[in-house]
Amino acid sequence: MSYIDASSPILVTGATGYVAGWLVKKLLEQGHTVHAAVRNPGNEQKLAHLNQMAAQSPGQIKYFKSDLLQEGSYKEAMEGCQLVYHTASPFTSKYKNPQTELIDPAVKGTANVLQTANQTPSVKRVVVTSSCAAIYTDAIDCKNAPNGELTEEVWNTTSSLDYQPYSYSKTMAEKKAWEMANAQNQWDLVTVNPAFVMGPMLNPKATTSESFNILKQMGDGTMKAGVPKMGLGLVDVRDVADAHLQAGLNEAAKGRYITVGHNTDFLEMGLALQDKFGKDYPIPKKALPKWLLMIVGPFANKLFTRKFIRNNVNVEWKANNSKIQNELGISFMPMQKTMEDSFQILVDNGIFKK
Ligand SMILES: NC(=O)c1ccc[n+]([C@@H]2O[C@H](COP(=O)([O-])OP(=O)(O)OC[C@H]3O[C@@H](n4cnc5c(N)ncnc54)[C@H](OP(=O)(O)O)[C@@H]3O)[C@@H](O)[C@H]2O)c1
Repeated sequence: MSYIDASSPILVTGATGYVAGWLVKKLLEQGHTVHAAVRNPGNEQKLAHLNQMAAQSPGQIKYFKSDLLQEGSYKEAMEGCQLVYHTASPFTSKYKNPQTELIDPAVKGTANVLQTANQTPSVKRVVVTSSCAAIYTDAIDCKNAPNGELTEEVWNTTSSLDYQPYSYSKTMAEKKAWEMANAQNQWDLVTVNPAFVMGPMLNPKATTSESFNILKQMGDGTMKAGVPKMGLGLVDVRDVADAHLQAGLNEAAKGRYITVGHNTDFLEMGLALQDKFGKDYPIPKKALPKWLLMIVGPFANKLFTRKFIRNNVNVEWKANNSKIQNELGISFMPMQKTMEDSFQILVDNGIFKK
């Protein structure tokens, strides 16, 4: 039994998102009423999978038009909710102005949603989808962390508006969330901090998540010459949804939760696809040498600076996921299953033109 009244609606901001889709699916399957806050409730393509899930589940979905940058725009969606999931935040490498396109929606958006929670007496808990990006910027930060691994105690101190601004946006947004949580005692805050998320997209034709973009590049030939062996953490989107469910519905959940299944790298992710798809698709099977990347990287991609290459390529990534396993009972899917299930969805949806 949860401390949340099961008949009260549950708000999910950014319900159209890749990560949020699986959370909404699981909430609907459990019979909850989901208040889905979306930027454009008239965009049928973005909502198609949510409507289909609702039709097949005991729960119900109601849409509310909300924008992170419009103060008060989550008020109606939050009314009567005891539990709020704040997942909305841009996750993209395609930006021109990092301040207005990444930092402002992340930080002002979080403040906006939490301010509304302060004004909505029914709210008991807010779960913010933060990220491991609020804990580290580059794989080398793992080496510099106590005992050589990331834990919930560690905060990202190395990103900025000019260097890895997505990580900076998530760091500043999570800091804002804790600051606002600590300034009141009506609701408590729990953050879910996923590493890089993979796993099946529920709406692959409409998603803009960077998770989709990277997976697509693994099969469309962009990476056929090889990949940088960059250390990172990987987690299945279905496990991330379970982490959110527990973080929201389990009264004992507390603090931050690193949500990662595997300490890995880009090469291993590609290799995990070889058995099933290697014959038919140009999936990367070797690592690009660091010296070569140092020469061509900065010309090929503006984010691939020499500093970034030095701090990430051939550098091991390591995080400790024991807190979420011990406190919330989350276990993690095998990486090969995650990679194969995700890639199969792109194949089935004709994402790779032959
Ligand atoms: N994917 C990962 O590897 C990963 C890892 C760690 C944490 N996360 C976090 O998980 C969350 C979801 O990411 P995702 O991968 O699922 O990306 P996504 O599919 O692009 O989802 C982002 C969501 O944020 C919404 N959004 C963006 N700007 C907005 C604005 N100004 N107002 C209202 N909504 C806005 C988007 O709405 P529209 O549909 O209208 O664009 C979308 O629903 C983010 O907080 C991200 O930082 C993701």
